[in-house]
Amino acid sequence: MTSSPKSSNTVWHQATVTRTRRAELNAHQSVVLWFTGLSGSGKSTLAHALEERLYQMKYHTFVLDGDNVRHGLCGDLGFSDQAREENIRRVSEVAKLFMEAGVIILTAFISPFRTDRDRARKLVGQDFVEIYCRCPLEVCEQRDVKGLYRRARAGEIKEFTGISSPYEAPEHPELEIQTANKTIDECVDQILEYLVQRGVYQL
Ligand code: ADX
Repeated sequence: MTSSPKSSNTVWHQATVTRTRRAELNAHQSVVLWFTGLSGSGKSTLAHALEERLYQMKYHTFVLDGDNVRHGLCGDLGFSDQAREENIRRVSEVAKLFMEAGVIILTAFISPFRTDRDRARKLVGQDFVEIYCRCPLEVCEQRDVKGLYRRARAGEIKEFTGISSPYEAPEHPELEIQTANKTIDECVDQILEYLVQRGVYQL
């Protein structure tokens, strides 16, 4: 569903308030933290817990969450491979805009396909941080916070990731978090440590 631009005769307007100037004003870098993993692997929980910690340190942040975005911007999309591709394409563009606006943007989408995540990485550039929430399907299914796995097993939900639709695990994520055997705080600490190393976050 990737579309080629239909709006011709448009000219890019260069902003004088650049990303670099915004970073100076904010006193921190902007970055895209791209959480990926199965439904129930902890993406949203971690993204929000991390955002809370960063907010308390006066960092400018925003979480884009799959379930929420699918109520608005992507409310017209279902869960076919093509619809997921379009979902991730839109989210990647939005994430890039937030990054340009100087914000630490945390995205929590299953984003099951490697090519779609790689396209997002290419679009965003060097400040794309892929965070793989690794959690065995059995554990996600046991948690079944939203009751969707049970319904998918019963055949009530088609094309459900991990059951009847594939999940392609990242091969070289910047970070891999084993969410099954760690507390939320331990996971958040692991990400913060990484952000310190990258110079995004200062203790
Ligand atoms: S993605 O595959 O396009 O990245 P996204 O993260 O936006 O998915 O949405 C996933 C959320 O939608 C899940 O956490 C779950 O709550 C809900 N959902 C509903 N139907 C499905 C489905 N068929 N497969 C996966 N998730 C689904």
